[in-house]
Amino acid sequence: MNSGIYRSRLGKPLDKEAAKFLSSIRDDSEIFLEDILGDEAHSIMLYEQGIIEREDLKKILKALEEIKAEWLRGEINLKVDGFEDVHEFIESLLIDRVGVEVGGKLHTGRSRNDQVALDIRLKVRKYLLEIWNELIDLMEIILTRAEEEKDTPLILYTHLQHAQIGSLSHYLLALFDHLLRDLERIEDCYKRVNKSPLGASAIGGSILPLNRVRVAELLGFEGVVENSIDAVSSRDFALESLSASSILMTFLSRVSEDLIVWSSSEFGYIELPDELASPSSIMPHKKNPCLLELIRAKAGKICGLLTASLMELKGIPIGYNRDLQEQKSLIFQGLKETLDILKIFSKIMKGVEFKTERMLEIISGSYAPAIDLAENLVKYLRISIREAHMIVGEIVKEFAEKGLKLKDLNQDTMKDVARKVLGKELDIPNNVLEIIRDPSKIPSKRVSMGAPNPRDVSRMIEDRKNILKEKKKILKNILKTLEEREEMLSKTIKSFIEDDLASH
Ligand code: ARG
Repeated sequence: MNSGIYRSRLGKPLDKEAAKFLSSIRDDSEIFLEDILGDEAHSIMLYEQGIIEREDLKKILKALEEIKAEWLRGEINLKVDGFEDVHEFIESLLIDRVGVEVGGKLHTGRSRNDQVALDIRLKVRKYLLEIWNELIDLMEIILTRAEEEKDTPLILYTHLQHAQIGSLSHYLLALFDHLLRDLERIEDCYKRVNKSPLGASAIGGSILPLNRVRVAELLGFEGVVENSIDAVSSRDFALESLSASSILMTFLSRVSEDLIVWSSSEFGYIELPDELASPSSIMPHKKNPCLLELIRAKAGKICGLLTASLMELKGIPIGYNRDLQEQKSLIFQGLKETLDILKIFSKIMKGVEFKTERMLEIISGSYAPAIDLAENLVKYLRISIREAHMIVGEIVKEFAEKGLKLKDLNQDTMKDVARKVLGKELDIPNNVLEIIRDPSKIPSKRVSMGAPNPRDVSRMIEDRKNILKEKKKILKNILKTLEEREEMLSKTIKSFIEDDLASH
């Protein structure tokens, strides 16, 4: 096949080693189909604008459809030398099939700069929609689990030390709310990704009467990246997609860390399903949370890919520069791994067994109700929180030394401690101590907004169900519109190939 179709200005073919270094063709398998889509929409527009002949369009589309089918059947090998990239490769394939007089017209009014920007946008768009879909699945699983665990009390940790008594459901809702913001970040940057750069030409537009809006419409974009310099030069859309992914992955890494800790024998809060755990080659008793550990590691890698993208970009002048070629694989790898992680994480969240008895056991021996006891002193005795803190702090100190549980505290001991700490007599009504008798009931006593009171938790679950329904609807509508546009494009292609004059 004829490579080097761009080299008319250059006397010699490209040095072999230099060609390998320069070429992006191996990475370009990610955008093979996107490139053809762009070719098809562009050539239809060229015909509609009177720039190429109908007969030429027919031949071009027919050959492109053949190339697409061969690619889908796995008959095209991209491990070829001598081509700078997939753009040169596909154009050469086309020229091979229909001749340079016809195939050579495809690139009219277009450069590889707007072409590759288009391909990346099409691919990032696809990834974002898949991530969006997976995120919704995960959020749905988390909501279901939150509903199942409404009555499960759980210690909440700060500094990984017992902090307050909460509930598992409330913890799961915290995950949901973070993921909702992650979803909204994806949703928001999707709007900026979904714009067509095609027709910007190399950087400054064309003297030919291109119809950029028509191309955007054929490819399912919502509008164009208007300024031709911006269209070929900017990659912020990819950066923000990877950035949204990195934020999401950083969060899942933290949750994974919780689950890893919770799966230890010391915590024993969860049991991973056997099919999602790994053994040891030597220690027969082992059940390792390797998937979660890999999520933690891969999250770091995705953040690294974002950093690499930012670093690559920061020094290059406005306009297309070949440095931009290196961006593609970083972005695609980051988004692909995000997708893989989401799928695995959903499986884990669905299959994990919560050991609620163990959670309860830990609560019953914990000093975490200390804060509620102190607040009760504020509420019933109207003393300052600092005084209450001093009294309860002293009680915990003494009880810990003696190995006593907080729920065994009585009024007399409390009075003694108050006298010792504050130097005054306090009248302690019995109801002050009620709160520590059954720590598992503590969440139901919390009244501040967003606290783990089961009533509030139930309301939050219902609320989040409605939000999720809305988010699903938005995604469904986007997918439907894209499907319709895709159908419209393939019908248009088909009608030109079959030369169905009536429809044009
Ligand atoms: N392979 C290139 C890339 O991935 C395509 C664009 C090349 N443009 C150029 N002016 N050399 O970015």
